[in-house]
Amino acid sequence: MTVGKGSLLMASRLRIFLVLGSLWGSQSFDLDPCSSKPGAQSACVGQVGGSAVACWTRSVGVSWACWSAASVPAWAFNALRANAACQSMTDGLGQRSFGGACTFLPPGPRLAAAALPPTLRSWAESYQLAAVTLQQMTLEEKQQILHGIGWDGPTFALLPGYYVGNTLPVPRLGLPSLNMQDAADGFRLYWHDMLDTGTCWPSLLAMAATWDQDAVRDFAVALGEEFAGKGANAILGPSVNVHRVARNGRNFEYISGEDPHLGAKLTTAYVEGVQSQGVFAVVKHFAFNEQETNRNTQSSNVDQKTAWNLYYPPFQAAVDAGVAAFMCSYNKVNGVYACSNGDLLNRDLKQRMGFQGFVQSDWWAAHEISLGQGLDQEMPGTQNLWSVENLSAQNPQLVDDAARRVLAVMYKFDLPDTTKCAPMNCSAYLRANVTSAAHRSLSGSLAAESVVMLKNSDSVLPLSAANVKTIAIIGSAAAAPVYDPDGQGQGQGDWWRGDYYSGGGSGHVVASGVVTPLDGIRRQAQELGIKVVVPLDSSVAEALNVAYLADVVIVVTGTTAGESRDRESLHLDDGADDLIAAVVKQGKPTVVLMQVPGAIVMPWRDSVAAILVLFFGGEETGNAWASVLFGDRAPTGRLPLMMPESEADTIPPSSSLSVPYTEGLKTSYRNPLFKAAFPFGHGLTYTSFEYGAAEGGNCSVGAPEASEALQCIHLNVSNTGSRPGRTVVQAYVELPPEAGYETPVLRSFQKTGIIMPGSSQHILLSFSARELSFYDPGITGWQLPATVTAHIGESSQDIRQKVLLKVPGGGIIHPAEVPGFLLPAALIVLAIALIAGLVCGLQKRSSQGQGACSAFDSTGSEVEMLPLQH
Ligand SMILES: *[C@@H]1O[C@H](CO)[C@@H](O)[C@H](O)[C@H]1NC(C)=O
Ligand SMILES: *[C@@H]1O[C@H](CO)[C@@H](O)[C@H](O)[C@H]1NC(C)=O
Ligand SMILES: *[C@@H]1O[C@H](CO)[C@@H](O)[C@H](O)[C@H]1NC(C)=O
Ligand SMILES: *[C@@H]1O[C@H](CO)[C@@H](O)[C@H](O)[C@H]1NC(C)=O
Ligand SMILES: *[C@@H]1O[C@H](CO)[C@@H](O)[C@H](O)[C@H]1NC(C)=O
Repeated sequence: MTVGKGSLLMASRLRIFLVLGSLWGSQSFDLDPCSSKPGAQSACVGQVGGSAVACWTRSVGVSWACWSAASVPAWAFNALRANAACQSMTDGLGQRSFGGACTFLPPGPRLAAAALPPTLRSWAESYQLAAVTLQQMTLEEKQQILHGIGWDGPTFALLPGYYVGNTLPVPRLGLPSLNMQDAADGFRLYWHDMLDTGTCWPSLLAMAATWDQDAVRDFAVALGEEFAGKGANAILGPSVNVHRVARNGRNFEYISGEDPHLGAKLTTAYVEGVQSQGVFAVVKHFAFNEQETNRNTQSSNVDQKTAWNLYYPPFQAAVDAGVAAFMCSYNKVNGVYACSNGDLLNRDLKQRMGFQGFVQSDWWAAHEISLGQGLDQEMPGTQNLWSVENLSAQNPQLVDDAARRVLAVMYKFDLPDTTKCAPMNCSAYLRANVTSAAHRSLSGSLAAESVVMLKNSDSVLPLSAANVKTIAIIGSAAAAPVYDPDGQGQGQGDWWRGDYYSGGGSGHVVASGVVTPLDGIRRQAQELGIKVVVPLDSSVAEALNVAYLADVVIVVTGTTAGESRDRESLHLDDGADDLIAAVVKQGKPTVVLMQVPGAIVMPWRDSVAAILVLFFGGEETGNAWASVLFGDRAPTGRLPLMMPESEADTIPPSSSLSVPYTEGLKTSYRNPLFKAAFPFGHGLTYTSFEYGAAEGGNCSVGAPEASEALQCIHLNVSNTGSRPGRTVVQAYVELPPEAGYETPVLRSFQKTGIIMPGSSQHILLSFSARELSFYDPGITGWQLPATVTAHIGESSQDIRQKVLLKVPGGGIIHPAEVPGFLLPAALIVLAIALIAGLVCGLQKRSSQGQGACSAFDSTGSEVEMLPLQH
């Protein structure tokens, strides 16, 4: 059903001439995929750092696409895209060839901010300033920064003029209030008079589906901008829990999806992006808050091997990226509440991960004072648990340790100078309008980039006027309204409810200007001259009536989820399974679109022509679908989770109050017994890619993280199809049996830029020491094998080739290769020394053994060792 390429080329290929700054010559580029679109409305050409960039769109208000022949940093690229609502709508620019270029508007605040991220103070310097202030503080003042205000205790309701999280300022010492807001899908628009003043972004799980650190960084920069504009100085995010339970009601909030490496990479981008705006991030929920069922009472019982290998890496990544705060979770860990758990907060987080910020309780998750166990701040303060009287009974050293950590964060981010208002006087800021055309456009672009195409039989997609005259749009999610909880507080009413654009609970953002799937798809179809038919009611009979009239049937489906309860099943809402089964019987090609919070079972998957998934796309959902369905954008998302064949191929929530993680590392694709309908990492596009031979090699050629990379793989990826596209090259590492994995595990990935048909791109997969290691508490912690086998491919199951990697410095500590009884004592001593060096190198900024680490640093470079300040 694709249009002959030749005729398209003749009829409508757009040539855009880019004037390259340095060459003063003119060079022409074929702009695809838009060039092959008859309806392209506008285009413009601008510059980023001396490189020409072209952007184009097909209709006003719809996402822009941008492209450059040069290598342009993605953040700048996307910032330009977000600001590309330029003079492009003027006459003449919609013509088929452009001799010149339109000029971009002066870079908006976003581009300017992204270009010049503020430099945050080092922890060491921040702690010095904190120490000076701490000496001048009374106990009352310390208490003021250690507990929350702003909630009415008896009703669990937020008071007007306050953020979801607040502490009081201490004007005498120039200390600001902390103004913190929920963030899962954007700035939480808690009150009715805040509606339509912030962007409803794609969910963090949708961002995970981009598999794109640059996209996440752009999102986080824009999010940070909105929070700053609202007078907030902190974001209650990112949420990074690696999914264990497929039906977990909060999975849509978690940027890790089901994989710790994917989570670690994207968490880094999120923290850096948000904090570049001077707004500090609070990573959550620490730890093992893996189900909502009994979340206030159940104990997650987890061994250290499972914790460090599977659940901690995104949290460690947040620490390494300089995250300011951690939020401890509601549940118990190994029998002790997370917020009172010294093993979790003191030993694992502060000592072993080297976290130097402060730990805050989830709202009402503190059951005791727990300063000695590593909790630093109690939220939201209604229990009067951390009263002055109560704190005065504590060891003053512990109170000081906690206060010092909060102060250090204030100085690291220069909050005394930048905080705009103090609750309760923040109403004007809370109502400030921080959304913009640029942010809405970026939200739509990101949603489109997150769409995962699971199936596309007979290339039914993309749709065009040449192959389709009439489409039917059916299904209960096609024009579903947004849900407005109207200021409902924690635990009240059906506060947990969400909709098909944004999940429910504290992460819910009301998408006032939502573009429904029906709106977005119908508008674009009409522009292309394609007729759209819709049913008059929601009956299956009426759906069949309109399907009968169409060449292609689009069924829009979804299911919702929300905080504080787990999903009842993995099925779609409103009998969608039955509707799809009935419709496909008519024999029309059927395209199923799903707007969902996580894993879904698709019993009808073999009978439909195409399936696409969007993990809650935010307010531009309809435009995102349209741009992918009609081929303005090739789909580029990849599954951040496994779509199971049945619910039996997942871990269900437990109703027991004691939840042992007996499966260990075997969740998701790491369990060879779980059958996938669509595997982890899977995602199709409108073209195909061929992999050249992969070579292990020199990390210093073109590697962004070359200095940290221990080993690299190079390969060329060619576009062998007829349309431009991007792919995500994934490396699953097969570790030695001692690691305890039954499958190879994701340890590196790279998303390509747009590759034109017939062209190829060089891909570099880099691996740090940690990314080639496994954690074994039975030996000495992180183990670096001598060799590993990297399985390289397009998903966890579509492996195209394998490469044996020799790991520099690896193997010395691999116990299987050390026949201890044969080794002379001297060699054993040497081995121990090297182990110490390696472990120290891996545990950067650990508080332990500074002297030993400096002496044995196996890399030979200076390892940064900041003393802990207590
Ligand atoms: C602390 O606060 C709680 C709650 O107000 C109270 O029940 C308790 O007696 C106080 N004292 C101590 C030492 O915990
Ligand atoms: C809020 O504003 C009132 C009136 O201007 C002022 O008295 C009060 O101190 C302010 N509160 C804070 C926390 O700034
Ligand atoms: C906020 O700004 C956006 C974009 O300019 C606009 O569409 C929206 O209507 C504004 N919201 C309000 C409440 O004025
Ligand atoms: C890697 O490449 C860089 C730059 O081309 C070169 O300077 C370096 O010597 C190479 N290293 C190795 C080990 O080949
Ligand atoms: C990739 O292609 C480039 C250009 O054709 C070539 O120089 C390079 O050796 C190739 N690299 C690999 C790893 O095949």
